[in-house]
Amino acid sequence: MSVLIPISGEKLLVILKGFHFEEQLLLQRRTEKKWALQVVVCLTFLLLLVVILSGAKGQPLVPALFIFGDSVVDVGNNNNLYTIIKANFPPYGRDFVKHSPTGRFCNGKLATDFTAYLSKKARGKNLLTGVNFASGASGYYEPTAKLYHAIPLSQQLEYYKESQNKILGIAGKSKGSSIISGAIYLVSGGSSDFLQNYYINPLLYKAYTPDQFSDILIQSYSNFIQKLFALGARKIGVTTIPPLGCLPAAITIFGSDSNQCVERLNNDAVSFNNKLNSTSQRLQKRLSGLNLVVFDIYQPLYGLVTKPTDNGFLEARRACCGTGLLETSILCNAKSIGTCANASQYVFWDGFHPSEAANKILADDLLTSGISLIS
Ligand SMILES: *[C@@H]1O[C@H](CO)[C@@H](O)[C@H](O)[C@H]1NC(C)=O
Ligand SMILES: *[C@@H]1O[C@H](CO)[C@@H](O)[C@H](O)[C@H]1NC(C)=O
Repeated sequence: MSVLIPISGEKLLVILKGFHFEEQLLLQRRTEKKWALQVVVCLTFLLLLVVILSGAKGQPLVPALFIFGDSVVDVGNNNNLYTIIKANFPPYGRDFVKHSPTGRFCNGKLATDFTAYLSKKARGKNLLTGVNFASGASGYYEPTAKLYHAIPLSQQLEYYKESQNKILGIAGKSKGSSIISGAIYLVSGGSSDFLQNYYINPLLYKAYTPDQFSDILIQSYSNFIQKLFALGARKIGVTTIPPLGCLPAAITIFGSDSNQCVERLNNDAVSFNNKLNSTSQRLQKRLSGLNLVVFDIYQPLYGLVTKPTDNGFLEARRACCGTGLLETSILCNAKSIGTCANASQYVFWDGFHPSEAANKILADDLLTSGISLIS
């Protein structure tokens, strides 16, 4: 996520380089309090910007963007955690201008990075700021995050509460409340719960059918949305889970010798997404004033995987990093043998995550659905 600031009197946008606040939101190893403090410090700075700029330029369309969830949207919060789910080393981030890894699970930008940028570009005058609380390997099932020492969703919510108090403290009750209710909240979860826990954990897959496990996740999702709503959030976007069975690592691990997407996993994803959609519609009806939009990433990504050449890609089965069959996180590193030269030709950057080029296309779809949140 970048901080986007309209230059006075013009439609020009400046992405404040050097102000990578998300990179500052790193967890301190020992004390979580310290991290919370850093969030608060960063937010203070951000809010001053919001207040100053909105004062000078009128009300921004969207005063802030808060992101919760997993590695689909994590921009580096796992960097200083004791977790193996990390991406803050080469070749991650190699296609950024500075070629530097940030902790994003990608060679470059995430779909939400583009969305933050594009929505700004699309609307001309608004200002997006906020905090990204997401953490790779987190999800709706709390034990998944704990298994990988990532930040569980419940804890992300606690951090959000602290930043909210800060917002109210700095901006005052009235302005603070309008920032909170005007902000966009993005939630992404479920993929890690299935791929990094359910499918490989006999304690889960022997105890629950995929359908029952989905219900557990959806219950937790529903609780999370209700809590966000109770805290004042009114514009919430939630991403569906991708076609799990088409992720290169999933084909390698769960596919039986064939190079095709694993249908069983895709069926589970579709079923989960349908529940997510119907539950979201129910929540929207029940919680008055809530605008809850489901961003579908399943279909767009499935389209890229099944028709790569239509979209300018050469390869959809193997990922760019390493052999492209499995490697992700610490297994995708500078010493991985076989890493491709040009990630733009690949739908997937690593065994689990789309490339920047694919994220760019996904972002267009996110944006289309996102307009209904912004306007
Ligand atoms: C959710 O369901 C509605 C109608 O039931 C449908 O129109 C919409 O496309 C679905 N959204 C997603 C993201 O699947
Ligand atoms: C990488 O691949 C993309 C897509 O095929 C192409 O447009 C681009 O020119 C390539 N870049 C290099 C450096 O070869």
